[in-house]
Amino acid sequence: MSDAADQIFATLKQSAQSGAPLYLQLRKSIEDAVNRGLIGPGDALPSERDIATKADISRVTVRKAVQDLVKGGILVQRHGSGTFVAPRMERVEQSLSRLTSFTEDMARRGMAVRSAWLDRGLYAPSPDEMMVLGLSSSELVARVARLRIANDTPLAIERASLSASALPDPAGIGSSLYAALELTGNRPVRAVQRISAANLGDSDARLLEVPAGVAGLHIERISYLASGKVIEFTRSIYRGDAYDFVAELRLTGPNEEGRP
Ligand code: GLP
Repeated sequence: MSDAADQIFATLKQSAQSGAPLYLQLRKSIEDAVNRGLIGPGDALPSERDIATKADISRVTVRKAVQDLVKGGILVQRHGSGTFVAPRMERVEQSLSRLTSFTEDMARRGMAVRSAWLDRGLYAPSPDEMMVLGLSSSELVARVARLRIANDTPLAIERASLSASALPDPAGIGSSLYAALELTGNRPVRAVQRISAANLGDSDARLLEVPAGVAGLHIERISYLASGKVIEFTRSIYRGDAYDFVAELRLTGPNEEGRP
């Protein structure tokens, strides 16, 4: 890294004559170093103090340049461990016509999946949960909230609600909710999914390791058993820079629904 750091500062000296504000010059030098591969995803940046000393500029200027690059998603800051070049995001192409689980989707792509628990337990249902899951106020709802991570990159926050009678022990589901539901004959066979745009709030952005306010996808899935009963009500936030949802469209025949 020290070679790369030296190169950043050499570039900075070259562009010093451009007359642009110093923080813009430093921002551009770091950006160029990333684009030219002199520093790559996961590489640590020298400390603010080192950059300031080496480039002979104030720490305030360094902080401004670094903050701009963090906001732009070029760098990430991890509390206590420093500033790094952001991991390069490989976009995941996700079909909208198959009812699959996160674990299956990622395994099919050869990605290592894990989850960090945000919440799991039995609760009194909210009005939304009562309505969608058909619960009365005396029944309990099972909540399973997880940060879903593939190849060490957090991709989505998923908050699933199910009736407690279908999932009496939310803490015992292991790594896949659908695999656990399959064991009790409760795996959904049909789902309706609603996708909308969302700007990520502070806490979601922190979990997904992206700057607050960037675009994300809000996805709501309501899944059904063969009997028609709702089994799952999941609200998720996906990283906008990580997913392409793909749907196949067909021209409907004259006797099919949807044709005028
Ligand atoms: C997808 C869906 C969720 C579903 C989850 C189950 O990500 N969007 O609605 O709950 O899969 O995944 P897993 O079986 O890996 O827990």
